[in-house]
Amino acid sequence: MPLVNPREMFERAYREGYAVGAFNVNNMEIIQGIMQAGAAERAPLVLQVSAGARKYAGQAYIVKLIEAALIETDLPVVLHLDHGADFAICKSCIDGGFTSVMIDGSHLPYEENIALTKQVVEYATPKGVWVEAELGRLEGVEDDVVSEKTVYTDPDQAVDFVKRTGCNSLAVAIGTSHGAYKFKGDAKLDFERLETITNKLPGFPLVLHGSSSVPQEFVDMANAYGGKVGAARGVPEELLRKAASYGVCKINIDTDIRLAVTATIRKYFAEKPEDFDPRAYLKPARDAVKNMVQHKIKNVLGCSGKA
Ligand code: G3H
Ligand code: 13P
Ligand code: ZN
Repeated sequence: MPLVNPREMFERAYREGYAVGAFNVNNMEIIQGIMQAGAAERAPLVLQVSAGARKYAGQAYIVKLIEAALIETDLPVVLHLDHGADFAICKSCIDGGFTSVMIDGSHLPYEENIALTKQVVEYATPKGVWVEAELGRLEGVEDDVVSEKTVYTDPDQAVDFVKRTGCNSLAVAIGTSHGAYKFKGDAKLDFERLETITNKLPGFPLVLHGSSSVPQEFVDMANAYGGKVGAARGVPEELLRKAASYGVCKINIDTDIRLAVTATIRKYFAEKPEDFDPRAYLKPARDAVKNMVQHKIKNVLGCSGKA
């Protein structure tokens, strides 16, 4: 099955009140683990590539790995650029076969975010490529850019932004953040704000970034086998499930994949110090990604059987 534009995927998710998982991919094992989970659950998938992933693996490698994955599946899969910082990276991904791009102008002044997003929409739309934009700002680290303060999305500004840019979906800031250290006190999301945005933009797909749950099992495993992950905390799963019923059609997960891979490999190295074949420890890491993603699809996102 060829890569798909996410329109139908998100329309159905919106109608039926679930979310599609958007998983960050950086190498073959991560792609395979996610694809295996999707196949086991018959779930639609968004595979997303950050600028960092593109730099690490090379755009051609990552696209070809995903194309290889598609040979073996009939699942609908979207290839998405995560946090595109400028027009040039979006253009390169659109020209390189991506079916969806994010233009992230959230750090720019409002009018500049509009102008940049509009420029990407004008290039992408005639080519059948979906455009996600962002309004508001998330705390945390993205591609070495640290944002120290969350700026929640203003609902009236969101309406104006969508109308003026023509973007297809919008990432909103309601209290999630990137990385493994999301909450110091209570884990809270601003559902009142989310509901207001949804009501003002009926039928319009919203996106939640920074949505890893930071499973305690992996934090404990990493810490037990020499890691220093410390008191990491993510978004409780029940809050993600609730967000999916408020027009959030795409939920982004990266940190949980990193934790699954690293905790599993740390344990393997500690228990089998004599092994040095990379396949021996990459296989359990891939299995851990599969199991974690399968759990998300089934118990958190609600998209099992929706492919
Ligand atoms: O939102 C950021 C994603 O977690 C990607 O992270 O830029 O380090 O690949 P990265
Ligand atoms: P996490 O750091 O919570 O996994 O967020 C990932 C993300 O938003 C990618 O764009
Ligand atoms: Zn993000």
